[in-house]
Amino acid sequence: MFILNANEPNELANYLQEHQWLGLDETVVSLSKPGEGNMNYVLRVDTGKRTFIVKQSRGYVEKYPQVVAPEKRVVTESAFYEKIATKINVQKYMPRLIGIDVENNVMVIEDLGNSNDFTTLYDLYHFLEADELKELVNYLNGLHHSFQKTILDDELANLELRKLNHEHIFHYPFMEANGFDLNSVQDGLQELALPYKKDATLKKQITLLGSLYMSKGKYLLHGDYYPGSWLKTSDGIKIIDPEFCYYGSREFDLGVLIAHLYLTQQDENLLSIVVTEYDSYTDLNLEILNGFIGVEIMRRLIGLAQLPLQMDLKQKKELLDFARTLILKK
Ligand SMILES: Nc1ncnc2c1ncn2[C@@H]1O[C@H](COP(=O)(O)OP(=O)(O)O)[C@@H](O)[C@H]1O
Ligand SMILES: [Mg+2]
Repeated sequence: MFILNANEPNELANYLQEHQWLGLDETVVSLSKPGEGNMNYVLRVDTGKRTFIVKQSRGYVEKYPQVVAPEKRVVTESAFYEKIATKINVQKYMPRLIGIDVENNVMVIEDLGNSNDFTTLYDLYHFLEADELKELVNYLNGLHHSFQKTILDDELANLELRKLNHEHIFHYPFMEANGFDLNSVQDGLQELALPYKKDATLKKQITLLGSLYMSKGKYLLHGDYYPGSWLKTSDGIKIIDPEFCYYGSREFDLGVLIAHLYLTQQDENLLSIVVTEYDSYTDLNLEILNGFIGVEIMRRLIGLAQLPLQMDLKQKKELLDFARTLILKK
């Protein structure tokens, strides 16, 4: 088994040469961490002449090694990249796939450059430009429009990783005793969360949304469409990290995007941009869309996958109440 390690450039050079991802006349000049990730081990390789990104998935979550995760997930991610390479309107927003090693769960992709992701939005000082949001919606237009199934099959089912995501979106955040002390995030958050965790009506609706998330659907989804998957590059907005992809309900991708507009407290008029720019907005099921928006807001406030949010408890309570209303709205 090959293990990717930032401290072993020579081993990596040999490995890359064996797979013909590095010429015999090339070396690894430096290895660096290209940015903050959560799930996987990701490195930028600099050969002196060019750079590329190497990503390895392991049997656990990189940021929370106690959380077990399907170790083959990068193979699914590479299958997504292979698939979208056929559609220029989607590929133009994403790095090109260079190679995949299914034995060692290592993927090599194009480097989009030393760019920032959009997690700076959580500091509440950064705002999304209208044109940036249009690009973000346009990516979803291309993806959801270009890859549709008339007969649902098991392609990119991604079931194991989806089960893990389901747990952390629809279940764990709403468990009273899940072993995660929210006061370690912010004093008083544990008590603030309790009424929502005890709300049977709310939890029933969240369970229904969870079953929908686990069901097959017609549209190819990115699956994790939040600011950590959006890069600000010199060549415009790019999208990475489609490891949670699957064929499902397009309200899920859109719901996550909109939830993060609320979590980053963007201007209200940005929401209208989503409505006008998303190609088939009027065909969406708004009850489901609101539900996914609400659940994503809640799980980011009281679940394990915390964000660098700069909000006091009062602001969090307002958002939690708002999210609850969205989920229960008929
Ligand atoms: N193709 C790329 N070009 C430039 N930077 C990248 C690229 N892929 C990943 N990164 C950087 O590495 C970070 C982690 O990669 P990501 O694929 O999101 O891993 P994880 O699955 O662990 O979240 C990203 O947030 C981004 O900053
Ligand atoms: Mg990521």
